[in-house]
Amino acid sequence: MSSQSIGIFDSGIGGLTVANAISSLLPNEHIVYFGDSEHMPYGEKSPELIQEFATKITQYLIEEKKCKAVVIACNTASAVAYNHLKLLYEGQVPIINVIDPMIELIVGSLYKKIGIIATRGTVDSNVYQDKLQRRAPSQDYTVMATPLLASMIEENFIHDEISSTIISKYLSDSKLAGIDALVLACTHYPLIAADISEYYHHKVKLLLSGPVVAEKLKVILAKEELLSQNREKENDYIVSDLTKNFEKSAEKFFGTKISLKEVKL
Ligand code: DGL
Repeated sequence: MSSQSIGIFDSGIGGLTVANAISSLLPNEHIVYFGDSEHMPYGEKSPELIQEFATKITQYLIEEKKCKAVVIACNTASAVAYNHLKLLYEGQVPIINVIDPMIELIVGSLYKKIGIIATRGTVDSNVYQDKLQRRAPSQDYTVMATPLLASMIEENFIHDEISSTIISKYLSDSKLAGIDALVLACTHYPLIAADISEYYHHKVKLLLSGPVVAEKLKVILAKEELLSQNREKENDYIVSDLTKNFEKSAEKFFGTKISLKEVKL
């Protein structure tokens, strides 16, 4: 079973930031990536609908692609569908979300005030608020929805006039005043990490989920004796709606053309 793939999914290209962190830490693992571009943005959909999409994708990754583990590389889906998926696949396949490893990072940190920016869906789920209340009750933090960012990134507005206007509009909100760390609680946001850091003159620490999720996955795979010893083929990249724009965004992300396959679930 250790030679089987790791399934990773998101609404679009955002989860590639997590997939990349996993590939860097675990280069022997084969990845099946699923970008649900047909239903992007998840952040504006109801929890019920996201749960439905996430269940179908997870089922596909486990039952058809025979994945040995599934990473929900999306904060919104982690917030509203993780508990459901965990119950469904309990004892069969490890399901990893992107929120718990970030909470662990915060709990062990010494930041004075942490900003958390995310989609509306993630903010409205209260998952960060509830977990921090439980695990780090004295931590000063603020959670803010930045709903335009994921679609802006998916549309390729990165490091240009439009992106810097939208980024500064959000980050200048008084709620975020005085933060010394900012959680990029949407897996799309690392794609604009350089712009965000520039906005803060590199004085605010950006906390990204990719590396901590990759570490968590490594621990789980090692414990279950599921770590692969070598990777024989290229990773698979699947989308639910293959558009020219998605191809362009993926090409920009990888710096080269990759082969994308469309699968309708
Ligand atoms: N990348 C996703 C997240 O982490 C979702 C963005 C979206 O589709 O709205 O929340």
